[in-house]
Amino acid sequence: MVKTRIAVFVSGGGTNLQALMDAERRGELPSGEIVLVLSNSSKAYALERAKAAGIPTAVYSRKALGSQAAFESAIQTELEAHRVDMIVLAGFLSILSAGFTRRWPRRIINIHPSLIPAFCGKGFYGLRVHEAALQYGVKVTGATVHYVNEIPDGGQIIAQKAVDILPGDTPETLQRRVMEQAEWILLPRAAELVAHRLAEEGERL
Ligand code: GRF
Repeated sequence: MVKTRIAVFVSGGGTNLQALMDAERRGELPSGEIVLVLSNSSKAYALERAKAAGIPTAVYSRKALGSQAAFESAIQTELEAHRVDMIVLAGFLSILSAGFTRRWPRRIINIHPSLIPAFCGKGFYGLRVHEAALQYGVKVTGATVHYVNEIPDGGQIIAQKAVDILPGDTPETLQRRVMEQAEWILLPRAAELVAHRLAEEGERL
């Protein structure tokens, strides 16, 4: 079976990217291969992780390119150059327009650090998600992998995993636990699920 070619979009430390690369190396991503890591910031440590693993990288700055259209056009060209079949958003903080996501139906997935529909949507990213969960006083939180469409965190849910909130948790300790116990487990599994579906569909074409 031809492997699904995966691009991972990053903006930060890249621990979810690392989980994906480690899963691939352990043979837990048999239907896919990571062929590109793309960031909106040249400072993203995730790029160092990709380089250490010998994976091609690309950086596109929305500001430098001057418009959302130019930004997305440059990204689309890069994706076509690498013959990418699916995109994994792993802490990617730039906006992708409806025009862009519509060109990738059920081919873009995102990891969000809460149990959607809780604590998601506009303005909920990174530590803010965990601050909101602690503020509300929920006893359980977790992570969600979902398809990406034009609604922020609004696409069909693919997988979720719950994580207990412990007394004395801070946003930082909670973020770490959600990463360790949920995100880094869910994202590779969800990526394999979607990569396998796409590889099978490709077979049937
Ligand atoms: C994670 O908390 C993830 O849930 C969110 O952004 C953060 C990315 O972290 N989408 P990393 O860059 O993968 O370490």
